[in-house]
Amino acid sequence: MHLEHALLEVVLSHSNEGIHMVDTAGITRYYNRAAATMDGLEPEEVLGKHVLEVFPSLDKGTSTLLKVARTGKPIVDQQQVYTNFRGVEISSVNTTLPIFGQEGHLLGAVEVAQDISGTRKLAEQIIDLRRRLHSEDPATKGEQGARYHFSDIIGESRTLREVLTRGALAAHTESPVMVIGETGTGKELLVQSIHNASMRSHRPFIAQNCAALPESLLDAILFGSVKGSFTGAQDRPGLFELANGGTLFLDELNAMPFQLQAKLLRVLETGELRRLGDVRSRKVDVRIIVAMSADPRQSLRPDLFYRLNVVALELPPLRQRKEDIPLLCRHFIKRFNSRLGTRVQGVTPEAAKMLAAWQWPGNIRELSNCIESCLNFRSEGYIEPKDLPEHFHRPAEKLLRPELERLEKNMIFQAMNRTGGNISKAADTLGIPRQTLQRKLGKYKWHDICNKNNHQQKQEGK
Ligand SMILES: Nc1ncnc2c1ncn2[C@@H]1O[C@H](COP(=O)(O)OP(=O)(O)OP(=O)(O)O)[C@@H](O)[C@H]1O
Ligand SMILES: [Mg+2]
Repeated sequence: MHLEHALLEVVLSHSNEGIHMVDTAGITRYYNRAAATMDGLEPEEVLGKHVLEVFPSLDKGTSTLLKVARTGKPIVDQQQVYTNFRGVEISSVNTTLPIFGQEGHLLGAVEVAQDISGTRKLAEQIIDLRRRLHSEDPATKGEQGARYHFSDIIGESRTLREVLTRGALAAHTESPVMVIGETGTGKELLVQSIHNASMRSHRPFIAQNCAALPESLLDAILFGSVKGSFTGAQDRPGLFELANGGTLFLDELNAMPFQLQAKLLRVLETGELRRLGDVRSRKVDVRIIVAMSADPRQSLRPDLFYRLNVVALELPPLRQRKEDIPLLCRHFIKRFNSRLGTRVQGVTPEAAKMLAAWQWPGNIRELSNCIESCLNFRSEGYIEPKDLPEHFHRPAEKLLRPELERLEKNMIFQAMNRTGGNISKAADTLGIPRQTLQRKLGKYKWHDICNKNNHQQKQEGK
């Protein structure tokens, strides 16, 4: 017991998150160094005292700790902006949880506070830069806004034309639009075209990629924040407000954390948002267009999915509309001729056959890159098979082998994971001899990977 107590003490006191515990009388019983730093106090100034004595600006109704210590109901992920005792503005995300004794009676409450002030500063800088880019300066406006129109989208295939017709119709409505398509199928093109064909074309078009940004940063960038009560820090509208009257394009929406998806849904439903640290709601008039390559049912909250699914436009992959390849080739040859100063006239029938046989995993972007590459080896005449990138010349088995190996490795690792690393059992489920499996485990370095994973998990403290 003593050891566990000591362990807790070490862990809590070194936590980066502020931890503050009160009993049911409102007296602070635990207050770690991180909490003290955030509040601009010393732990001794808080420990053993009543919360309202130390924080006179609070009262029984506004102190989350006192509220939870009274009601026993948790308050999760509440964002706060406040000025601490040293006059420093702090933005935090707090979760306040009740503490119950063994017989189920309330003992007090603990608040875990994450300091997101740094994140918020970063968000403010990003928003300021974006605001400057979207300013009225016509020189930068074109670059940042929507450049493409429906006429820029090349293709005559029925599958593509159907999507474009529905997209053009949707442009005249106010409904949210969800664009789905593999990488390089032209999602960006379609989204910009919809904005430009809409009544909002003279209003801002603002795009934000939702992948690869931490949740709190994306939150502040999208929804904005307000200054703390005592400092000179400025209020910041988020991208939603910058896009007011226009279109907000949320790319790779599937990467947006669920909690933010809920916030997005609220804005879609109410037409109002609340900036970080703000008490009032603001009206926004923004049309939302989202794009993603993954199956939206797998990656979106069901309620948000149904809200966005009003107009769903699915761009076909190039391999499903190969009849468009010649047209696209002509388009890209023309484009790169003028960029590279070449005079290439077209594609020979043999080369065209090879292009038609290819599966184009990178879709139109891959085709565009392919033509650009060809024009680096040829300045006039017709593109021949030998001008095509090297992978067009590799025999099919050579392409198949790495693919098969990847598949085999996955199946083997899955079987090993399911059987808890039992080689005999895994060999059984895979239907191969034990020795074969052992050999393959060596080939795919199963044991090395296992060891590395264990090591990593320990480092991450899982
Ligand atoms: N139908 C088309 N006609 C002409 N060019 C196209 C077409 N579709 C895509 N492109 C070109 O292909 C490239 C990729 O398109 P885009 O950026 O719109 O793809 P994306 O679907 O957004 O891909 P990602 O998922 O990788 O972001 C761009 O250079 C675009 O101009
Ligand atoms: Mg894109």
